[in-house]
Amino acid sequence: MGCWRSKLEPQGRKSKEIEEIYKVNKKEGKEKEAEKKEPSPVAPRGKIKVKFDQRVTAKYDIKALIGKGSFSRVVRVEHRITKQPYAIKMLDRVRGKEVFESELQVLRRVSHQYIIQLIEVFESTSKVYMVMELATGGELFDRIIAKGSFTETDATRVLYMVLDGVKYLHSLGITHRDLKPENLLYYHPGSDSKILITDFGLSSTRKSADSHMDTTCGTSEYIAPEVLAKQPYTSQVDMWAVGVIGYILLSGTMPFDDDNKSRLYKTILKGKYSYKSEYWKDVSEEAKDFIDNLLLVDPNIRMTASQALKHSWIMSKAATASNKNLHRTISQNLLRRQSTRSSLKSATSRQSAKSLRSEHRHVLPEEIDALHRDPQIRAEIRSLSSRTNTPAKSPASSSS
Ligand SMILES: Nc1ncnc2c1ncn2[C@@H]1O[C@H](COP(=O)(O)OP(=O)(O)O)[C@@H](O)[C@H]1O
Ligand SMILES: [Mg+2]
Repeated sequence: MGCWRSKLEPQGRKSKEIEEIYKVNKKEGKEKEAEKKEPSPVAPRGKIKVKFDQRVTAKYDIKALIGKGSFSRVVRVEHRITKQPYAIKMLDRVRGKEVFESELQVLRRVSHQYIIQLIEVFESTSKVYMVMELATGGELFDRIIAKGSFTETDATRVLYMVLDGVKYLHSLGITHRDLKPENLLYYHPGSDSKILITDFGLSSTRKSADSHMDTTCGTSEYIAPEVLAKQPYTSQVDMWAVGVIGYILLSGTMPFDDDNKSRLYKTILKGKYSYKSEYWKDVSEEAKDFIDNLLLVDPNIRMTASQALKHSWIMSKAATASNKNLHRTISQNLLRRQSTRSSLKSATSRQSAKSLRSEHRHVLPEEIDALHRDPQIRAEIRSLSSRTNTPAKSPASSSS
């Protein structure tokens, strides 16, 4: 899982940092005894059917399962003494090795208002438990659907926070590589809640200012063309994903959408998307210009996070837009998409809404290999390589 063909960027440092955290935990008196033991069975609460290490349950009361990934379970917990709620992401040490190493490497370094904060880490021989601040407002898309109103101004607010967090990450040489609405959480249920960027399992930390990444990873619908083309790439891949997120926020539809992965990747490689009037008629030209300057196949001319923050649409908070309520379009489209996908899977109602999210699978090596065997695609990639030598230029509507 995760990323593969890692030549320039070996993923994750050897677990020295992790050991350090482990030592900190070791100092915690009473829990010392328990740590030698393998996870011991803890009475499952509600639907949590996983075992937790005794050191974890000695300190935190496990409340409910709130998220599930390929190698992870996320639970809401409560500190037994302070009663403070937290989230614990539990990962399988063996199957999720690369994931937790990348994630910890990043989370231990970062401190930013729009990035999830790591509190502490517990390790057993088979599991890693990351205690994090708890985001109670849910995932970005759930909020949009539940919210009741959604305007361009709301979209600029969300994107501003995401861009500010991404700018910070990029300034540290960190590329998230899996930005998508499932990984953007609202801190609290209030309408003024901030957004938190989470899930650094696929992230990469650059070793030097001019080093590139060349491992293939990401989620199909959000993956940048240069990754599909197997070109060495930079943190600009995150900016492509921000473009996809912006497109979804404004229309409730995906810019690149096809159940057939090969066709999906071909459209991405070409950077072929359109603004169907049905969904875009009420959206300002400035908003489209913002998207257009992110969904550029050439990463050299794609807006950087700093440039995107200075884009007139973001800076003006869409003041010139009609500020029509886009909610109806967005929620209906998403729900339609959810029900289409889920009927294919013969799932039902609420459960099926969840399955839409897991539908956005990580890119698989065999899919990319198949893509590269296609002569048409090979030609497309060659033309992409020649095009991406274009010198960088500032986006037209950027103020600097
Ligand atoms: N700190 C948190 N607070 C609240 N919910 C969280 C938190 N971290 C993760 N989640 C929930 O769990 C889901 C999976 O977590 P994530 O870190 O994205 O793991 P994965 O790598 O398996 O995708 C998220 O989409 C979110 O719904
Ligand atoms: Mg995730």
